[in-house]
Amino acid sequence: MGHRLGRVLIAHEEIARRVRELGLSLSRDYDGKNPLLVGVLKGAVVFLADLVRATDIPLAADFIAVGSYGGTTRSSGVVKITADLSVSIEDRHVVVVEDVIDTGRTISYLKRNLQTRRPASLKVVALLDKSERREVEVALDYVGFTIPNEFVVGYGLDYQGFYRNLPYIAALEEDSAG
Ligand code: IMP
Ligand code: MG
Repeated sequence: MGHRLGRVLIAHEEIARRVRELGLSLSRDYDGKNPLLVGVLKGAVVFLADLVRATDIPLAADFIAVGSYGGTTRSSGVVKITADLSVSIEDRHVVVVEDVIDTGRTISYLKRNLQTRRPASLKVVALLDKSERREVEVALDYVGFTIPNEFVVGYGLDYQGFYRNLPYIAALEEDSAG
């Protein structure tokens, strides 16, 4: 069955406004702490790029890649690191930057893994939270938007690698015709 772009859930202007607010919060909370933002590849790249420009404190950024959806809209539940950080996070104030928290498996695995590396602190900023879908309880420190249980694309989020370049977030719908 094919898929097509559905309605817009979050317009670009709305995302931009919320990202500015999150940037202000991080600037306030991490003033003097030189935090390390860890973007989760690839979905969080667009969000991280805008988020860092909404801050006005010294910070560094690095990336980590985890295996997740494998081309479908359902999580396999299996998480592993497929590309690791390039720096040590020991004694650093780490902020994991995620696109969307769904079952919570990926972020809870990542938090556990990063915690073993002895950061000074470890927090999470997620652009989207599908809280209804949670299977693993996990604390999120900053959330952009809580959204309903729907598969979404755009602003970094993909379906089979596509749609990341949309400046807004839209639902992906199953195309039953044809
Ligand atoms: P979780 O481990 O179930 O929380 O899944 C988190 C990961 O699944 C995210 O980092 C995304 O890569 C992917 N994901 C979950 N929901 C969506 C969605 O609606 N659109 C695109 N990717 C999603
Ligand atoms: Mg992701």
